[in-house]
Amino acid sequence: MPASVRLTPLAAFVLALGGAAGFPALALAGNGGLAPVAPNSPNAERIADMYYFVSIFAVLIFLAVAVPLVLFMVRYRSRGRGREIEGPQIRGNNRLELGWTVLPVLILVVIASFVFYKLEGTSTLEGTATAGAGDLKVTVEARRFYWQYRYPNGAIAVQRLRAPQGRVVDLEITAPDGDVNHSFWVPALGGKFDAIPGETTETSFRADRIGVYEGVCAEFCGLLHTEMPAEIEVIAATEFDSWLATEGSQQEGGTSTLGEQTYRGACAKCHGFEGEGLIGPTLAGNPIVSDTRRVEEIVRNGREEMPPVAEDWSERQLDALTAYLKRAYGPDEDESGS
Ligand code: CUA
Repeated sequence: MPASVRLTPLAAFVLALGGAAGFPALALAGNGGLAPVAPNSPNAERIADMYYFVSIFAVLIFLAVAVPLVLFMVRYRSRGRGREIEGPQIRGNNRLELGWTVLPVLILVVIASFVFYKLEGTSTLEGTATAGAGDLKVTVEARRFYWQYRYPNGAIAVQRLRAPQGRVVDLEITAPDGDVNHSFWVPALGGKFDAIPGETTETSFRADRIGVYEGVCAEFCGLLHTEMPAEIEVIAATEFDSWLATEGSQQEGGTSTLGEQTYRGACAKCHGFEGEGLIGPTLAGNPIVSDTRRVEEIVRNGREEMPPVAEDWSERQLDALTAYLKRAYGPDEDESGS
């Protein structure tokens, strides 16, 4: 056994490790790294506030532990002293012991108080000045493997939820019976909310800036879990009103993109975004896609490997899909659909 243990390389290693872990974290924390995305709804702001508040203590405590640790390792290294030689034995320090007992308790009380204060109002905007009976109510349905949104006037959107700027939107999040658990999460506009078959989870948001806000399905729900991003597109309120009115009054065809949205949300993940075939067979140029009755029967009832995706779709949505399929992938028209 060597007479002394050189701590200097160890201290250097710990320093390097601390640096490696700490600096990228600090560098990334500003944007797109460890920090939450910039909030754009009062409830998302509350969530971000909690994150930053707790982070302050986390960073301070890390520094309070790590800096003295490294300093002590360097300051009190053995300097060639034999291993068997004991250092001075120090017992008891009332002030120090009281300090490291009371201070953590106080820190936890402060954090808990702040979090409980902020928690109210992270899920819904009830009680805020702008929330009320006039809120837009949208049902969010999670399905394997896409999101479907139903508006009060019958309008339907797939994958991308459209919402008006500056207005409170109440979401009722659910999943059809027989589906599995999913979770709706668009971080800039709020927290993570479960979509469970037969149950309804409520949340709301009010987006103050126009834009497209990216989100995900945050519950592992099966083979194509990563293929069900949740998106919210916030547009000017007047533009939204006219879109909603037009979309709600559509019977079929027209300017509605429901057929295409449905294809991209529900079908493309197995049949390819160009109908080129993937898990499911190729649709481009496939004679079946022009046979509306046949397509309806297959998507309503499923067959072989294919699930009955359209089991509970409205006639309107099914019509929109069959029209789109025919238009985009039918062998008669020479269109690629892209
Ligand atoms: Cu739906 Cu993961």
